[in-house]
Amino acid sequence: MRILGIETSCDETAAAIVEDGQRLLSSVVASSMDLHVKYGGIVPEVAARAQIEAIIPVIDQAISRSKLDWPSLDGIAVTYGAGLGGSLLVGVLAARTLAIVKNKALYAVNHVEGHVYANFITESAASKSYNLPAKQPRFLMLALIVSGGHTQLVLFKNHFKYELLGQTHDDAIGEAFDKVAKVIGLPYPGGPSIAKAAVAGNPNFLSLPKAKLQAKYDFSFSGLKTAVLREVQSLCGKSYDFPSFKLAELLNEAQRADIAASFQRVAVEMVVDKTFTAYQQFNPKSVVIAGGVAANLELRQQLSARLPLPIEYTDPKLCTDNGAMVAALGCFKAMQKQSVANSYSLDIAPNLSM
Ligand code: KG4
Ligand code: ZN
Repeated sequence: MRILGIETSCDETAAAIVEDGQRLLSSVVASSMDLHVKYGGIVPEVAARAQIEAIIPVIDQAISRSKLDWPSLDGIAVTYGAGLGGSLLVGVLAARTLAIVKNKALYAVNHVEGHVYANFITESAASKSYNLPAKQPRFLMLALIVSGGHTQLVLFKNHFKYELLGQTHDDAIGEAFDKVAKVIGLPYPGGPSIAKAAVAGNPNFLSLPKAKLQAKYDFSFSGLKTAVLREVQSLCGKSYDFPSFKLAELLNEAQRADIAASFQRVAVEMVVDKTFTAYQQFNPKSVVIAGGVAANLELRQQLSARLPLPIEYTDPKLCTDNGAMVAALGCFKAMQKQSVANSYSLDIAPNLSM
């Protein structure tokens, strides 16, 4: 079973081919991030325009690098939500058109569920540069999903049979990384910048609060983000009415590193604490992490230290948005005879949830 996966939910234009839900045959990711950095966040109109320019060359490259041709592909999987409307439209319309013209089955993929399926890729014929898990996860599988738009704990009883245990009430963890980076003057996207700055910092420099919520598996990051802002104001000797965008220039490099390390430690502890509680309650056979923040080394280290089972992580390149995760999930949809999407009418679902 060979599926072409197409992902265009945000600023990445990505296409990949995966065989049997586990073998990566090619993966191409183009990003319009450079165009957004100067704005300190993704500009949806700019992202959508970049998608239009990149989509055909990216799909062409994914096919040529796999050394396959169209007749040897069994279907096309595409992200139809959640994401930015304009960006999603480009991928969905490209996938629908190709499915009709090439006479292929079309599978509609939920972006967040797709992130989880990156963990099922265990082999790469595409390139030796992927550091992949030795085995596919087993069910019962606990998934911690940590991205720029989502923070969720999901319990998978099997493929397509899952229960949402909890999610964030406000910011996603990746969003909190991005916002804290902005306050302390580190470049967008904040996740990788904070992780880099934190290496030289003291993770116990600040004592920051962890949100306490009624629901056992829910998250909240807005209080942590505000606590960092208050600490920065006090370090700079400024009150809450001082413009927050002017604080960063008052910090020195050592202070930035200490704040980054302290924030990262606590944000990661917050998700690791709940993952550990869920592990104790459900005793899953596998635990996986998914989404852009799953690339974070501190998260990987804290989780491995806390959980009693050995946990395998996928390559950081498969944690941030990519086509391989969409193709992998598409393979399972095809292998398990899940319903196909209508190539003439599949619509986008920008607010889709798990
Ligand atoms: O999954 P993703 O590529 O896009 C969404 O679906 O949102 O995740 C992007 C998020 C951003 O917030 C980015 O700052 C964060 O993932 N991120 C990281 C790291 N790499 C990306 N956060 C922490 N540490 C990293 N190494
Ligand atoms: Zn994503």
